[in-house]
Order: sequence, then structure tokens, then C-alpha cells
Amino acid sequence: MNRTEQNLYEIILRNFKEAVVFADAQERIQIFNFIAEKYFQISGKKVLGKRLERVIPYKNIKKHFDLVYEKRESNHDVELAIHIPPAPSSDQETLILHCSFYPIFDKKGAMFLGCLATFADITEKGLLLREISKSRDLSTIGMLARWMAHEIRNPLSSLNINIELLREELGGETQLSQKEEIHSLINFISYETLRLENNLKEFLDFNRLPPLKFEWIQLNEVLDSVVRLLRPDAQIKNARIEAHFQKKLPMLKIDISQFNLAISNLLINSIQAVSEKGEIHLFTRGSKKNVFIIIQDNGVGISKEHLPRIFDFMFSTKPMGSGLGLSIAKKIISDHHGEISVKSEVNKGSVFKIRIPLGQKVN
Ligand SMILES: Nc1ncnc2c1ncn2[C@@H]1O[C@H](COP(=O)(O)OP(=O)(O)O)[C@@H](O)[C@H]1O
Ligand SMILES: [Mg+2]
Repeated sequence: MNRTEQNLYEIILRNFKEAVVFADAQERIQIFNFIAEKYFQISGKKVLGKRLERVIPYKNIKKHFDLVYEKRESNHDVELAIHIPPAPSSDQETLILHCSFYPIFDKKGAMFLGCLATFADITEKGLLLREISKSRDLSTIGMLARWMAHEIRNPLSSLNINIELLREELGGETQLSQKEEIHSLINFISYETLRLENNLKEFLDFNRLPPLKFEWIQLNEVLDSVVRLLRPDAQIKNARIEAHFQKKLPMLKIDISQFNLAISNLLINSIQAVSEKGEIHLFTRGSKKNVFIIIQDNGVGISKEHLPRIFDFMFSTKPMGSGLGLSIAKKIISDHHGEISVKSEVNKGSVFKIRIPLGQKVN
């Protein structure tokens, strides 16, 4: 490779948005770009020529390099969570990386030269969303299946690896220094378990909406039971949920369990949006033709840019969000011939307003 070529490769690698790491057949690092320095918290100059195990601070990632060196089979992709910086600290953040590992062979494909790995930050689920919007023509079922495959398989594989690592750690004598390692592995596991649980629940809610069963109810009573169920969640955050019900509302004909689900999805979002001293107010109002339910919070609010997208299937700004809560709520409200609208201001809060028309001929 001549000098200009070398410069060109260096510039490309430096500007590459993904971390790129290449280690030779002896597991010694030969390429380590700028983003890799950021994810692995070590300077590129220090690592060249060093062995992988001394450079990669994350055992879950190291494990996948090992797989390539052992099996030398075709490339594989996996999503892994890492903490930056790797040692526990107050400003530690969790990143989800889409990691690809490639065994590299010489031109004839005979000699194994080493392992190339790339790491892309997909914490915001950007990649997945882009993929889904590309495939709008797929049927909803196909889309859900892809989503399931993605959401369930990746955390599962990362769970398995972490559990295996834990077993190894616990196998030997546990020293103090290993305790931190064990602690961080357990954190990965509980993070991924939460992600699975949360997404699976919302997925099932979405897919399992049974045919509606309408019955006549007192709206305030139904809402009261939802509020009571969610109040402890708010209290954990030191936030309050207050109900302000208009007396003598007309009776409504609704499907109680689905309606509950819609309202809880909105309240859960509000609870997630508020911080200490958060306030969530739930109002009911009746007019001649409609009943209104208003959910108001003084939480983080929604930016102008996000506002038109919040009811979109799988739109979420939360690292662990499924983006299904509002899609489900909207579907249920429209099954009740109602509407849901929102007003919001960043750092001030949000108001969601549901209108349910009276006198609908529902069966
Ligand atoms: N009360 C709220 N305050 C601030 N943002 C909200 C609120 N409700 C919804 N959002 C925004 O709408 C997005 C979509 O909500 P939702 O469909 O429930 O999915 P998820 O809660 O899983 O992210 C959220 O990620 C958040 O950005
Ligand atoms: Mg939600």
C-alpha cells in the first residue's frame, strides 16, 4: 500500500460513524478507529499491536471475538449493551450496539488473517425504525413478526451470553475485583429482561386485542379503578395522580378492559414523563353529545418535531420503549368512534384529550 492509499484508508476509517476493530490471527489489534476509542475508552495509539483481551473491556463483546477465532465461520451479528465508561460511575450511560463480526481470509480464501468487527450505536432504535419505514408495504403481521424477531431474539442472545459469563465467574473463587464484574453482568441481564418484558407485554396487548364487548358503565368508576392501579407507580417517582371527575356524567357503552388499556397507556406515559414532584391530572367532562377525558401532566413534554409522529406504530423516544402504547390507545379509542388529540410543550408538559361521542350505535 503506498502512502496516499494509506492516508485515504485512515481518513475513511476516522470518519466512519461505526467503531471498526481489526485483530490479526494472533488476536493482536491492527485497526482501531476513532469511534472504537470512544466505545472502548482507550486511545488507538496505545492499543495497536496489543492483544484483544487486554483492550476490550467488555466481556460480552470479547466473547464474540472468541467465537470467530474458534469457529472461523461466516460473519454474525448481535446486539449487545455496554456501559460507558466500563467502570461504574455516576455519569455511566448504557449504549446498545449492533455488533458485526467477520472472519477475514486472504484472497484465495485459504489463510485466516484475523477478525474484523464493527459496532453501531442503535440505542435510539433508529436503525430498526428506518428498516420498518422502508417496508411499509409489508403486511402488519409481517412487520410484527420482524419486530418480534428483532426485539426478542437479540436480548435473548445477549442474556444467554451474560448468564454463561456469570456462570464462569462464579465457577472460580470469587475475589473482590470480580464482584464488580459480576455486578455489571447482572445489570446487563436485568436490563435486557426488563426490555423483553416491557416489549413483549405491549406486543401481546397489540396483537391480542379481542373483539370488543360493549357494556354500559359509569365512566368515573372505570377511570377510578385505573388510577388506583397506577397510583403506586407514580408514588415511586414521588409524583401524584389526581382525579377530577365531573359528577353525573351520562352512562357510556364501552369495552371496559380495552378502554382501561388505552387509559393506562396514556397514564403510564405521563408517569414516565414526570420527575420528582410531578403532577398528573385526570379530568372527565360531559356535554350533550360527547364525553371528554383529559390527561394532563407537567412532564418533559414533546418536541414539535416528534409531535406528529407519537401515534405512529413503533415510534418511541425511550431507550426501552416499544412505541406501541399510543398506537394501541388510538386504535381502541377509534373503535369507540372517538378521537384522541394532544397538545404539548417541551419542559412544560402534555395534555391528551379523548372525545367519546354519546349515542353511538354500538353493539
Ligand atoms: N405524556 C407524555 N409526555 C412526554 N412524551 C410523551 C408522552 N406520551 C407520549 N410521549 C412520547 O410519545 C412516544 C410514543 O409513546 P408510546 O406509543 O406510548 O411509546 P413508548 O412509551 O413505548 O415510547 C414516547 O416515546 C414519547 O416520546
Ligand atoms: Mg408508552
